[in-house]
Amino acid sequence: MVKKITRIGLMTSGGDAPGMNPCIRAIVRTAIAHELEASGIHQGYEGLIKGTIDPLRVRDVGGIIQRGGTILETARSEAFRTEKGQREAIRQLNEEGIDGLIVIGGDGSLSGAHVLAEQGVRVVGIPGSIDNDIFGTNMSIGVDTALNTILLAIDRLRDTAASHHRAFIVETMGRNCGYLAVMAGIIGGAEVTLIPEVDQKIEDVAEAMEDAYRRGKNHCLVIVAEGAKPNAVELKSGLDKLDVGFRSRVTILGHIQRGGSPSAFDRLLATRMGVRAVEALVEGESDVMIGLEGRELVLVPLEEAISKSRQPDPEYFEIASMLAR
Ligand code: F6P
Repeated sequence: MVKKITRIGLMTSGGDAPGMNPCIRAIVRTAIAHELEASGIHQGYEGLIKGTIDPLRVRDVGGIIQRGGTILETARSEAFRTEKGQREAIRQLNEEGIDGLIVIGGDGSLSGAHVLAEQGVRVVGIPGSIDNDIFGTNMSIGVDTALNTILLAIDRLRDTAASHHRAFIVETMGRNCGYLAVMAGIIGGAEVTLIPEVDQKIEDVAEAMEDAYRRGKNHCLVIVAEGAKPNAVELKSGLDKLDVGFRSRVTILGHIQRGGSPSAFDRLLATRMGVRAVEALVEGESDVMIGLEGRELVLVPLEEAISKSRQPDPEYFEIASMLAR
């Protein structure tokens, strides 16, 4: 017999990602449809430890489906890494009568969810991070919107690059994962893409750029993932010492990639994952993450999801290089 739950607690944790709000909305309304109550935990694990927890009703999640960021706010918590912090978090859950927890966040946040599950908390994770580095899901919430934002920026930078016969070195986010850069390289038509997973020499980049110049290109886009070696600034200073035809400028896209209204894809993914997470808790599941495999949602053990990082498929990196003609 599955022990019935009565109150679902939900939190967003780690870096915010566009789509977290539609996910919150879906969780709250699915919980209510199952005659459960929902409580929003503010500022991730930090708020859980402090007990900043409020009930969420149907109307509280109205009008948020199109909003970026997260109405619950988010944080990266040092306190939760300690045993004392974890004890306090569990005490708060018990005090609030939360018997099912949903954590929306990246790998660090999902690791926290696993720690709680090991201590008896019924918990389901939802992958939310623009980096797309979470193992066990093809896509995390926020990735599609971030890619669209990058694409918009690249298209604009190409306009000014072509007008000045310049190269633009564009740094994308991703921590240690090159997914956003590789995909942006392909769909943005970059001449060169640098990612952390593949070491590249400044001389090789210079050669590719010079080649593009000789072939008569009036612009050159170089996408550099955060974490790549060399990084965007190192690359620029290396290139400045060489003559590759183009003079270069650096644009670091930064946190712009995390904001904005979630795309249609992210709203749908977030909604489906939110609904499935509540159902999973009702079915008695715990210590699992909702993953996307093909078009289907699957349950992935949290231990597996946090055991590795997802890396961009090398085939995409090859496609990016092949099409840079
Ligand atoms: O994980 C999402 C992410 O945006 C990474 O791409 C980036 O490395 C990091 O968060 C930035 O963190 P913060 O917002 O704490 O500066």
